[in-house]
Amino acid sequence: AEHLQIGLLGFGTVGRGVYRILTGNGESVKQKIGAGVTIKKILVRNMDKDRGIDVGPAKFTTRVEDIIDDPEISIVVEVMGGTEPTLDYVSRALQNGKSVVTANKDMIAAHGKQLFELSEANNADLLFEASVAGGIPIIRPLKQCLAANRISQVIGIINGTTNYMLTKMTEEGSDFDDVLREAQAKGYAEADPTADIEGYDAARKLAILASIAFNSRIGLDDVYVEGITRITAADIAYAKELNYTIKLLGIAKETADGIEARVHPTLIPHHHPLAAVNDVYNAIFVTGDAVGDTMFYGQGAGELPTASAVTADIMDAARDLLRSVPGIISCTCYEEKPVKDMGA
Ligand code: NDP
Ligand code: HSE
Repeated sequence: AEHLQIGLLGFGTVGRGVYRILTGNGESVKQKIGAGVTIKKILVRNMDKDRGIDVGPAKFTTRVEDIIDDPEISIVVEVMGGTEPTLDYVSRALQNGKSVVTANKDMIAAHGKQLFELSEANNADLLFEASVAGGIPIIRPLKQCLAANRISQVIGIINGTTNYMLTKMTEEGSDFDDVLREAQAKGYAEADPTADIEGYDAARKLAILASIAFNSRIGLDDVYVEGITRITAADIAYAKELNYTIKLLGIAKETADGIEARVHPTLIPHHHPLAAVNDVYNAIFVTGDAVGDTMFYGQGAGELPTASAVTADIMDAARDLLRSVPGIISCTCYEEKPVKDMGA
């Protein structure tokens, strides 16, 4: 049987999850794609860290060239985060003809255009399902299953850390800093949690979703952003008294005046389905002219939910490589559309 070797850039929360799924479900992965997948090398910063997991014959390295220049490695899985030096590593991997799977919304939101062009030019897959809403399938549904629609709006809870925090603050009266620490300990938060609590992480995800949904280019500068740092216990109590709950929403709409995109805390009536989305769960409403309303729900962060999406991308990249058709999924044919100035 055929066999594919992959390299991981990063072995933190998500990287470990990918390792666990590929080892735990390796047989079924093999059955489904018709080839085995093994992790050959793993890039980390610190070789001496106790990772509490035996990675078998896979080898840790601190030299990215051991992965991106290794002719035996056909898929590079970027789960290290940030844009530097990640953008350089991913670009070089694509230039070397490697398929790339990434969970990195910072990089896709800021540098997606150039990466999609590289992917197309090098006939290499660039897949990023895990970059928005962790384990929830949303990139592929927007790109493929809902492609026949004109989409009018995408509205969602797209940050697990802040939804976890708001849930605990609302239900248990927990303190902001304490619940932030809990979310970090559970592996939900970004390396610098400022991106979560100030709304930038949700803004990056919204820019990615809106770009795909409206077939245009929505940059970070096009998104109005307000996080949850100014929400007080009193705000939460008043909202509760009035039968509302506070959620951090990402909202993108295509209107006659252009596309608008914003992230901010929003009062939601208790009977609304988004009010029932708690803890690390995320949910995204998408409205299309043919399909009507759809809603996608699941765990938006955390080790195994996120690794579920990354591993499915690895399997798709593997299928494309086995059929010698990598790169066809990446498309750079977006339209230029007016975008509303949100004073971002
Ligand atoms: P972690 O901080 O847990 O892990 C990052 C890993 O990358 C570590 O193993 C670290 O090495 C390695 N790393 C970081 N910088 C470098 C570098 N310059 N050179 C070599 N290795 C490096 O991050 P997560 O696993 O939580 O997140 C990874 C990515 O997935 C991010 O883009 C994040 O936004 C995204 N994501 C995360 C989710 C989550 O729930 N955590 C959900 C969805 C997406 P070392 O271990 O030696 O320090
Ligand atoms: N920090 C992010 C969140 C990880 O809490 O949603 C998932 O993208």
